[in-house]
Amino acid sequence: MNIPKFQAHFTPTFEVAWRLAKEFWGKGYATEGAKKGIAYGFQEVGLREIVSFTAKVNLRSIAVMERLGINHAKGDDFEHPFLPANYPLHRHVLYRLNSLE
Ligand SMILES: CC(C)(COP(=O)(O)OP(=O)(O)OC[C@H]1O[C@@H](n2cnc3c(N)ncnc32)[C@H](O)[C@@H]1OP(=O)(O)O)[C@@H](O)C(=O)NCCC(=O)NCCS
Repeated sequence: MNIPKFQAHFTPTFEVAWRLAKEFWGKGYATEGAKKGIAYGFQEVGLREIVSFTAKVNLRSIAVMERLGINHAKGDDFEHPFLPANYPLHRHVLYRLNSLE
């Protein structure tokens, strides 16, 4: 779990995130780990909302969000303030999960 250090329309918030060495891709580990993190955040910490975001081009990460059943509203997508506008990773998708869902 991470607290994003930039300001956006959805901050302050808590982010669930993942990164695996390539040799461990394709085994379900990111999704399994994220499920545990989300359950901990809601049940043990008492968070009301957890978000996840990634560059629009990061299809593997978006696939993890979709597998987790996190909700995506196109109107929530945003330009990452720490990345230059002409950088391919600038445009981000935002996914949100509410504790009551
Ligand atoms: C993002 C990232 C963690 C995703 O890894 P991933 O391996 O695609 O995702 P998972 O660990 O959830 O694995 C899912 C895959 O494992 C497969 N799988 C194999 N055995 C499985 C099992 N027992 N249970 C579940 N899934 C299994 C799934 O079918 C799926 O395959 P697919 O991608 O061909 O559809 C990885 O690409 C990464 O570290 N990228 C670099 C860092 C990064 O971009 N991080 C995000 C920054 S915001």
